[in-house]
Amino acid sequence: MIANAVTCLIAHWFQQCYIEVEFRERQATPRMTDNPLKPSPEIKKVALGISGGIAAYKAAEVLRGLQLAGCSVRVAMTKRACEFIQPLTLRALSGAHVIVDDYALDNPDPIAHITFSQTVDLFIVAPATANIIAKFANGVADDFLTSTYLACTAPVLIAPAMNPTMWHHPATVRNLSQLRKDGVRIVDPDSGEMACGTIGPGRLNDPERILAAALELLAKGRVTQDLADERLLITTGATREELDPVRFISNRSSGRMGFAIAEAALSRGAEVSVVAGATSVNSPKGVRVTRALSAHEMHEAVMKKLPKATVFIGAAAVADYRPAQRAATKQKKSQSSLVLTLERTRDILGDVASARTNGLLVIGFAAETNDVLFNAQEKLRTKNLDAIVANDVTRIDAGFDSTENAITILVRDGQGPLELPLMSKLEAAHRILDEIVRLRAKTETSAVAGL
Ligand SMILES: Cc1cc2nc3c(=O)[nH]c(=O)nc-3n(C[C@H](O)[C@H](O)[C@H](O)COP(=O)(O)O)c2cc1C
Repeated sequence: MIANAVTCLIAHWFQQCYIEVEFRERQATPRMTDNPLKPSPEIKKVALGISGGIAAYKAAEVLRGLQLAGCSVRVAMTKRACEFIQPLTLRALSGAHVIVDDYALDNPDPIAHITFSQTVDLFIVAPATANIIAKFANGVADDFLTSTYLACTAPVLIAPAMNPTMWHHPATVRNLSQLRKDGVRIVDPDSGEMACGTIGPGRLNDPERILAAALELLAKGRVTQDLADERLLITTGATREELDPVRFISNRSSGRMGFAIAEAALSRGAEVSVVAGATSVNSPKGVRVTRALSAHEMHEAVMKKLPKATVFIGAAAVADYRPAQRAATKQKKSQSSLVLTLERTRDILGDVASARTNGLLVIGFAAETNDVLFNAQEKLRTKNLDAIVANDVTRIDAGFDSTENAITILVRDGQGPLELPLMSKLEAAHRILDEIVRLRAKTETSAVAGL
């Protein structure tokens, strides 16, 4: 018995030492590595909130990812979250006291919800339950996590996770819409089979995607509502020009770039409408999408919606040519070769620019394989656009069907081309929108000055 008691004491002492040593080590070097995801040379402080959902255990992965990216992380948990994952795990990983109840006497900080939230660069909640979302949206502050949200001056990112019925409930939809308006960045859940056996949207998104969104926010800061007065009309995806009922001419565009612009614009307060051709990715939540598969259908849909738009962004890869004839039945093969006659499709971007009224800003894309800047400049000039986004589609790490892009933005009457490094399409989308905000400010100043 005595031997057992001594063993227990030694084990306990070792455990304490381990936590203390880990704690000191993390404080001195919060997992600084030469990871390429590292947001900036200085250490970023992140508060990670965990609420009571089945996916709470995945928060440990988010925490580790943030540390690998060079961030120092403090953790706060709701009482219910502790039913799903032990605070001790998060304490060992973060190397710091995990706050659950700021009324508890062992809490090292007497007014933790203020100091905790106002000394961080980013506040993440992953997973965010329907309950936490409802409380955040309505300003309820009845525990540490919700008080922290209200006192927080840093950008906020939430990753919801819940049963699909809870996700689709009008109350949750309403609450999320309110949070978007309040500038909260939301990493929408994935679709798939849930722990409860239901299939649908609600599964916590991949920790890597949560991490990518967090690092983007850390690099950019709070998302402002600087597009609240704009109505964006965006085209995206590839058009399909049919040869017969089963074959068509198309291209490799996935629709990601246009959807990323839609997502970014929505988060900055714009009203967004997308006309999409064929796409291989899902459209972002909350964006109205009209399908238009051929260049002709896209032209019709765009012209119909144009009168309501204040900004047009042509990110779709529209076919310049289509088969002059479409066969009514599937064409059979023969021994001789086949010659196709192609005819020009209508120029959507050119027609939009010619029809512009009332300060409509027209932004085009130039997907080029050679002389990228020269060709983009020519397109900007001949089509009389306000700006053009050039990208080299021969790069295998960017452009068509990639999650990243390396773009150059050219603005009419602006300074030289703005050449941006490889970045996520969402971040690239924000940079394009920054230019639109700048262009709008410039046109308004010119109007006031009577120029
Ligand atoms: C086994 C189990 C799993 C749960 N999973 C979720 C979930 O994934 N998402 C969610 O919103 N609520 C879920 N709940 C309900 C929440 O735990 C409940 O709404 C709780 O009040 C949330 O508290 P909190 O938001 O303060 O953490 C679950 C409950 C149980 C018992």
